[in-house]
Amino acid sequence: MKKSFFTLLALSSVIILQAQYNTITIPEALYGTNFNLNIHESTKQIRTGNLTVTGSINNETFWGPTLIINKGEEVHMNVTNNLNESTTLHWHGMHLPAVMDGGPHQIIPAGTLWQPYWTVMNQAATLWYHPHLHETTQEQITKGVGGFIIVKDPQETALALPRTYGVDDIVLALTSRSYSTANQFDSPPTSVRVYGDYMLTNGTPNGQISLPKQYVRLRILNAEVERGYNLGFSDNRTFYIVANDGGLLNAPVAATRVKLMVGERIEIMVNLGNDTVGSSVDLKAYNSGQTLGFPGGEPNTTGQFGSLLNNIDFSVLHINVAATTTATTPITAVPSILASNTYWTAANATVTRTMTVTGGQGATPFSLDNHTFVFDYIDKTVNLNDIEKWTVTNNNIFGHSFHIHDIEFKIVARNGSATGVGTHESGWKDTFYLPRNESVTFVAKFDDFADADVTHPYMYHCHFAGHEDGGMMGQFIVTGNLGNDQNTLNTDFSL
Ligand code: C2O
Ligand code: CU
Repeated sequence: MKKSFFTLLALSSVIILQAQYNTITIPEALYGTNFNLNIHESTKQIRTGNLTVTGSINNETFWGPTLIINKGEEVHMNVTNNLNESTTLHWHGMHLPAVMDGGPHQIIPAGTLWQPYWTVMNQAATLWYHPHLHETTQEQITKGVGGFIIVKDPQETALALPRTYGVDDIVLALTSRSYSTANQFDSPPTSVRVYGDYMLTNGTPNGQISLPKQYVRLRILNAEVERGYNLGFSDNRTFYIVANDGGLLNAPVAATRVKLMVGERIEIMVNLGNDTVGSSVDLKAYNSGQTLGFPGGEPNTTGQFGSLLNNIDFSVLHINVAATTTATTPITAVPSILASNTYWTAANATVTRTMTVTGGQGATPFSLDNHTFVFDYIDKTVNLNDIEKWTVTNNNIFGHSFHIHDIEFKIVARNGSATGVGTHESGWKDTFYLPRNESVTFVAKFDDFADADVTHPYMYHCHFAGHEDGGMMGQFIVTGNLGNDQNTLNTDFSL
């Protein structure tokens, strides 16, 4: 009698678990130097009832495959646009010629093939790719078009870090959506809602995963339209930040919470070795305690977005602890030294620039230096190999996420002070959170791939898709060194 009672109990709890959580999709990993990417519309059973129309790449039904590439190799992309509208595909964080960058100028019309190629200059890092067609970015990102890029190099490979893809090395794209009554994503032009009410982790609602009882590595991307995340574990356990946007930090940073803004990546190691097999812990997004609630994005002065997730804590991944894996040698410690990056300092800079967040009053879109993006205006011209210091100031009504193409920079100050720079953003970066009433100063060397062809500039912009589409974006060229081979690529490469 007792036995059947417990059997029934066990059975019913299994049923409850299945109803509550869905195992997340791990995107297919593609290796090598030649990649075929087929961008298409698809459908996915995300909610009960109608299928949701999504955008995806290759065999996925939301998002795309993870491209695993090696520093120093020449990679070739064969990008086919099978959407029924134009798109572009931008390699976020990648150091490469502007004509290969996939920004708003490298348009891929519907039904055509785009074949950029470049030699991988980046060090080991978690990068990503996504559409970047001006005024269409929010719509296409909302549908789910995008994917991860993992760059490998010998320095990273020599470290005892978890790196078995899908086993102890997990990519996590965090985003949220709201739905119309027919289960379709709320997105422009029919809706301007940007803060989703429901979490999607790798495109999976109420996501769960089984992870082995050992150290695991989570490569986390904020793939949002606009929301920021303040991440931590439900039992407040310490985790270790080992990398940010541009790759490994010099040493791991212990943390219990970390903020991640739109477009930023972070790699963390978390120890499940002391957990009981069969137990669970949640990776959660926390209300940061700021009165205006970071999980809801950086709010306006009234602090309201109307999102169900605003000012509350919510799970982004339910982790079930499984047996230690035999698929790979378990990692049992976090290396104390990770890299030996030598960063630029403010003293290295020979050129100083300032930029201010403008607009955003009433119906006026946000802008930079009172200039709204247009295709044929080059905002900044940089001399090849110059080290520059840029300060972006936001005394406006809203926080933003600032991103610049092609280069990785070092954040040297927040509000003029080096001590204001977060330890989680202490490595090479390409994107940062710019809260209201703050300034961020970064230093970068514009050192390769000069491109004096004004038809293919690089971008800098707010990574909130709606702000970017609204014109909070500028463009720069890097001139000089016309003997550089890469300049021979500055023909009209876009189709
Ligand atoms: Cu991730 Cu200009 O973009
Ligand atoms: Cu913005």
